[in-house]
Amino acid sequence: MSVGKTRKLLDVARFSRSPLCHFQHRSVYTHSQLPETHKMLYKSVRDFSEAELKPLASKFDREHLYPGDQIKKMGELGLMAVEVPEDLGGTGLDYLAYAIATEEISRGCASAGVIMSVNNSLYLGPILKFGTQKQKEKFITPFTTGQRVGCFALSEPGNGSDAGAASTTARKQDKGYILNGTKAWITNGYESEATVVFATTDKNKKHRGISAFLVSKPTKGLELGKKEDKLGIRGSSTCSLIFEDCSVPEENVLGELGMGFKIAMMTLDAGRIGIASQALGIAQASLDCAVDYASKRIAFGSPILKLQAIQAKIADMALKVESARLLTWRAAHLKDTKQPFTKEAAMAKLAASEAATFCSHQAIQVLGGMGYVSDMPAERHYRDARITEIYEGTSEIQRLVIASNIAKEYGL
Ligand code: CAA
Repeated sequence: MSVGKTRKLLDVARFSRSPLCHFQHRSVYTHSQLPETHKMLYKSVRDFSEAELKPLASKFDREHLYPGDQIKKMGELGLMAVEVPEDLGGTGLDYLAYAIATEEISRGCASAGVIMSVNNSLYLGPILKFGTQKQKEKFITPFTTGQRVGCFALSEPGNGSDAGAASTTARKQDKGYILNGTKAWITNGYESEATVVFATTDKNKKHRGISAFLVSKPTKGLELGKKEDKLGIRGSSTCSLIFEDCSVPEENVLGELGMGFKIAMMTLDAGRIGIASQALGIAQASLDCAVDYASKRIAFGSPILKLQAIQAKIADMALKVESARLLTWRAAHLKDTKQPFTKEAAMAKLAASEAATFCSHQAIQVLGGMGYVSDMPAERHYRDARITEIYEGTSEIQRLVIASNIAKEYGL
């Protein structure tokens, strides 16, 4: 990646702070309404994704290949630390920019999308919000360039949705803590060089006894489990992290002791905007593929795009993509303007992941037999979509979060 290209995105960030840019975080509904900064970002990330990810996505999927070179290029473009301020090595843009960029990356390659999303929201996000200056310098700056990625270790073999039931322990010793336990389903687990990990420092206090720690990898007492063989997003790694008497210094406690559960919940609120954007990218790619095929495939004397049965599918797909995008941009806007966004992020993730599942299913239907074979990307989109309804909170958990927030709005 040339220096010129690197500069391009950093210039976008600088432009956003210049007097020329009058973006006041107003709500936007279409790409054409975006402020200039975000339009430029949208275009450059889209071009990058089209040229450097889309042509290789099926190879990454087929061969279970981590797209290391592409992640480094994304780092050079400023995409691996979108929200991190420039003085820490990041791009210094807002969450709307991050949502737009994650969608476009995922439109080309959903594996690259989740690698980016986990590094940005689940790893860098909590350190940026809760870390000390020293922690930020050590655990953020080297992770802004795509040369290194981080991960987030919350789930365990025995608890996924019930995140407060963590059984990994952190026992106090002289100069820090000793971690024991297994964390499961960790995206970026293999390649990551640091993790935010949650462990209980006081079991009696249940979720209020959970604390967050920063752990560099590799480190003594931390082993990797087997790389999971997954249905989709096969270019990203998923594995367990096994802690056996792993010593962590006191200075690596993130936030205050006992604050871990809240840190995890707040991190996931933001992370769900990232996964909503990833799902949107998959949904949009499915629509792109269906429209392209339907405009070329001739049946009954004309392109099948002229058939009402196909038109109805295209309309339903577009409706779901565009409504999910509105919810996703709204959640990002609320976060950018420092308003509560827990419910809205859950709605965005729920709608976008269901849009991805629906659109990828319908795309295969439009393509028929061609949708079922790996010569075309439709079957990969279908497999990639499925996880978006599971990780960072299942659709069932999103409904629970939405309903409990609605109850609060009714004063219940
Ligand atoms: N922000 C801040 N605080 C929050 C919060 C939020 N969004 N949600 C809950 N809390 C606080 C509550 O205020 C409460 O605080 P107090 O202790 O002061 O009372 C505390 O957390 C407990 O709240 P609840 O009683 O609501 O918690 P719960 O145990 O019933 O669980 C839950 C709530 C929503 C089900 C939660 O456990 C959850 O989100 N589960 C899903 C976990 C998840 O998404 N896992 C994915 C892991 S990451 C991943 O997917 C891997 C990857 O690499 C991509």
